[in-house]
Amino acid sequence: MTLADLRERIRRREALLGVVGLGYVGLPVAVVFAEAGFDVLGMDIDADRVAKINAGVSPIEGQEPGLAEILAQVVRTGRLRATTEYDALRDRDVVIVAVHTPVDEEKVPRYDALKTALIHLGPVLKNGTLVIVESTIAPRTTEELIRPLLEQSSGKRANEGFHLGHCPERVTPGRLLHNLRAMSRVVGGLTPETTETMADLYRHVVQVDLDLTDCLTAELVKTVENAYRDVQIAFANEVSLICEAVGGDVWRVRELVNKVPARNMHLPGAGVGGHCIPKDPWLLAYSVRDKEVPLRLIPAARAVNDSMPLHVADITVGALREAGVGIAGANVAVLGYAYLENSDDTRNSPSEALVARLQELGACIRVHDTYVPEYRGDLWQIVEGCDALVVMVAHDAYRTLDLRMLRARVARPILIDGRHVFSAEQARAAGWIYRGIGQG
Ligand SMILES: NC(=O)c1ccc[n+]([C@@H]2O[C@H](COP(=O)([O-])OP(=O)(O)OC[C@H]3O[C@@H](n4cnc5c(N)ncnc54)[C@H](O)[C@@H]3O)[C@@H](O)[C@H]2O)c1
Repeated sequence: MTLADLRERIRRREALLGVVGLGYVGLPVAVVFAEAGFDVLGMDIDADRVAKINAGVSPIEGQEPGLAEILAQVVRTGRLRATTEYDALRDRDVVIVAVHTPVDEEKVPRYDALKTALIHLGPVLKNGTLVIVESTIAPRTTEELIRPLLEQSSGKRANEGFHLGHCPERVTPGRLLHNLRAMSRVVGGLTPETTETMADLYRHVVQVDLDLTDCLTAELVKTVENAYRDVQIAFANEVSLICEAVGGDVWRVRELVNKVPARNMHLPGAGVGGHCIPKDPWLLAYSVRDKEVPLRLIPAARAVNDSMPLHVADITVGALREAGVGIAGANVAVLGYAYLENSDDTRNSPSEALVARLQELGACIRVHDTYVPEYRGDLWQIVEGCDALVVMVAHDAYRTLDLRMLRARVARPILIDGRHVFSAEQARAAGWIYRGIGQG
């Protein structure tokens, strides 16, 4: 099959699609293409996940508008099926790869999942298949790792036996389908014709701009946009530390700073989590590991953001001390374990770092999270008799809590607010001793 044939099949929605990795990215991608009328086969090594999807049930637990309903519908109509077998991808014209790409303790990319996927995908690629990697990867990875690995595993040459491109994702939990449709995408193929073919495909689901470019630019754009965000959040976090120390209020300061044109101070908070922001700056940094580029800002931003949960631990210890309570043996209730409001995603959760530090100091910890199955207990029982309450995630369910009723359940009215869920005035009026990020 030539690229021209493939473009025609894509235009008619007759191209058979495969999606490898059905997580926060791959599942909604599979769903929107199936909804657009394509025959989609999802592949994942997680058999439970595959079984759930085939039963028309979304394995993602947080608030995801539209996902569960459309998934059920496309499974019912047979447009989407899932499998654990790479072999089932043999007839696919396009295969999108969306497996996770973390970094290790040394901040080096761990491409094990990606490599495994490519090693198994190669042998089942039919002639002329278009492979699109949506996973976030360090700049140069398409050329230096993915292309040679796929050539080796398939026994075919890129741009002849198969075509290859990178189209990084811009979804975020809570807005998976919305971002897929309403956010512009950067599309980069090994050749301009491959890029055009990829664009033909994404035009079926993306309702806004597609920016056509090459693989390296696509890799750079994705990792830069997340490194940018990390640096901006780190700045806001550092300002919040300054405000705490001098007796200011970072929320008011931010509001007034942002009145100046071209200022966009981000939100400070109890830490940066998730699969992407904490590691994508390291993927960007990795691209220059063998070059003389003195990186200072990106590592500094990472260090600032990683320190925030520990700072929340310090605030907790300080507030308890002022109330005459030692941290060892104190009962601390933590509200929120996901990394993001209204999500069930706990990867790189700032709460994990907070809990580890408080436990190290001898505190007895109870955790609640509205969306994380492990911590979905009764919130009122969890806060009962606690010496301090720490809010780490701004789930809607916490924003609407009655602070007076909550006050009546705890042993000591110490409230540490890591996400500015409550105002200091509101909390104090309800009888709480309030400590918030960025409020001196
Ligand atoms: N989560 C986000 O909001 C987001 C946003 C933009 C980009 N990304 C990027 O997209 C990629 C995927 O992220 P995610 O959050 O969807 O990860 P995820 O962990 O939710 O999903 C990965 C899926 O791949 C499966 N898998 C692992 N190895 C496999 C293999 N060898 N073959 C088949 N399936 C395999 C896992 O079982 C899992 O279901 C990452 O590179 C990430 O950086 C994620």
